[in-house]
Order: sequence, then C-alpha cells, then structure tokens
Amino acid sequence: VLTSEEIDTPALVLDLDAVERNIARMAAECAAGGIALRPHAKTHKSPWFASRQSGAGAAGICTAKIGEAEVMARAGIDDILLTTELTRAKLDRFLDLLELARVTAVVESADAVADLGRAAALRGVEIPVLVDVNVGQDRCGVDSPEAAGVVARACASTEGVRLVGVQGYEGHLQHVLRADERRRLAFEAYDRLAAAVEAVRAVALDLDWVTTAGTGTYRYAIEHGLATEAQAGSYAVMDARYGAVEGVDFDAALFVVSGVVGRNRPGRLIVDAGMKTLSTDDGMPAVLGHADATYETVGDEHGRVTGLDATTERVWLVPSHCDTTINLHDRYTLVRGGRVVGTLPIAARGRVT
Ligand SMILES: Cc1ncc(COP(=O)(O)O)c(C=O)c1O
Repeated sequence: VLTSEEIDTPALVLDLDAVERNIARMAAECAAGGIALRPHAKTHKSPWFASRQSGAGAAGICTAKIGEAEVMARAGIDDILLTTELTRAKLDRFLDLLELARVTAVVESADAVADLGRAAALRGVEIPVLVDVNVGQDRCGVDSPEAAGVVARACASTEGVRLVGVQGYEGHLQHVLRADERRRLAFEAYDRLAAAVEAVRAVALDLDWVTTAGTGTYRYAIEHGLATEAQAGSYAVMDARYGAVEGVDFDAALFVVSGVVGRNRPGRLIVDAGMKTLSTDDGMPAVLGHADATYETVGDEHGRVTGLDATTERVWLVPSHCDTTINLHDRYTLVRGGRVVGTLPIAARGRVT
C-alpha cells in the first residue's frame, strides 16, 4: 500500500521518491557513459518533470507532437527536439515555437526539406534539422545511406534549413525481453545508423549530434559508441511491460489506485477503473504486490480483479503502458513517504496535434 490516506478513486498516483531515484540514476548512467540525455517528454507530458530532468543534467527534451512542444516551451523549457516529422499544416506553429525556444525538426525526404526551407524563408529564419533514419521500426526515416545523403545534400543547398545531426530511434527493440538478444539487435540497428551517419557526414563534416535509444536500449547505445545522445522516456515512471524486460530495473513510480464497487460474484472484485483510466494497448495492468492476482477491463469504467481477499477496499494497479495511460488523466496525485503531498497537472496530455 503506497499511502495510508484515502485517495478518491480512480486516481493516477506518482511516487515522487521513486521518480527522483529514476531521474538521478539515468542522468548518472548517461554521464558516466559519456552520452548526453534528452529525455522523451511524451511519457510524462509535464513541464515539472522536464525541469527536474534538466536540473539533473539533461541536454534538453524530446516531444513527439508539436502540441506537447508548445506546452513545454511556454513553460520555459528552452531546448526541444521534435522527434516526429511535421506535416505542412504544422509549419507555421513550428516557426512560432522557434521564437520561444531552440526547437529542432526531423526530416526524411528532400521534399520535406524544401517545405521547411520555403516556410523559413518567408519569416527570414533558419530551422535546425536532423536527418531521420529508419533503423528497423519501419515507421518514418530514410531507408538507406544513399537516401540519407540525398536528404543531407538537400539541407545543404536549401536556405533556411541547417543540418545539425541524425536521428535513428530503434523503437521496435525496446521491449525485447532477453537482454543479450536486445543488445545484439540494438548493435545491428546502430551499425545501420552508422552507415547513414557516414553518408550525412560526407556533406556535413562537423556533424556531432547522433540521437537514438530508449529505456530498453540506452545502455547498448553507450556501449556501441556511435550515439552522442539517448532519448529515453519511460524510465522516469516505468510500467508493467518494461518491468518484465530483463535488465531494465528502474523503480515503478506510476500507479492507478481503484476502489472496489462490486463484490457479488465470489472470487471476483469489480473496481472503478476501466478503459478510460488504464490503457490496454500493451495488455492488462498488473495488480501491485500480488503476482497471482489478475485485472481485466470490463468496459469503460469497470475492471474485474481476481486473486484478492473479499474484504479488499482499494486495489493498486501498475499500468501496462505509461505513455498512453498518463494521456487519459488530467493530473497526477503525488505521494512521498506514504503521504499524499499534492497534485500535478498533466499539462501536455491530449496534445496529439
Ligand atoms: C522517437 C522516440 N524516442 C524515444 C522514445 C522513448 O522511449 P522509451 O519510452 O521506451 O524510453 C520514444 C518512445 O516511444 C520515441 O518514439
């Protein structure tokens, strides 16, 4: 039980002691490994977290969406990498943001470079960009060193665009359960990234920003030696899916506390946390402290729990996926040393445009 106090349920609870340990530990590991840390704010969606991470030495933050970047920049976060390609309709907002913070875009094609260049020229500014490389997730990014070279040359010849580095995020490897297998696959991804970096460096000789890695792979990025920066996000709060990955041992800091609202079926409790409270894209949440107990959603507002005593009043759950669960909530309830110490708005939640 995380707190002796009643918290109105369902609530998203953050254990501040665990958060602080995680932030300090990742910062120390990256510093010792000689790599910068740019935490991904798509996980916590909170400028408070971003400031804590900066205070611990982070080089800046990442956001996935321009809406998240707007929230962070307006809160005073001054160095933001937008890790997702921009559609044309967002270019004006991006240029507005440049007035508030150092914001870097990623590009995957010469066409995108031309769009950015045109938009920048209209305002007489320069947009810093990274060439985005597909290292196996088959999402965005160029597919070959040759294509990386084409995008780099387009940057070099386009006014209003300044090539500053390369991004290659290996999202498909973060949850590979076995550490040796994950390491082997990550090294393959970084070798693929290295070939693209070489092609880009043929155009931009002094390029010194290579950004990659998440909570499951940052150690291998350090060991491999190519990357200058890690983009881990989930480590700050963790979730049940990452908790099952060998060698990922940050502390669980994020919980949902639910209240029992139904007990009419023997062996089963019904709680007041369903799909509107807990995401299930990565499976069902775990029941905290009861490895044999199970939780499953039974609709928007209800969950069914087995394996707990019939007199249970509150059930603590560990979300299966932190990013998508946090996105469902307006605020964190903050707990320290077993006491509720306040709430924190999740300011960038729902900023998906
Ligand atoms: C581009 C990018 N970088 C970094 C991360 C952070 O990864 P994690 O939350 O697994 O640490 C993500 C997460 O999805 C991402 O999309």
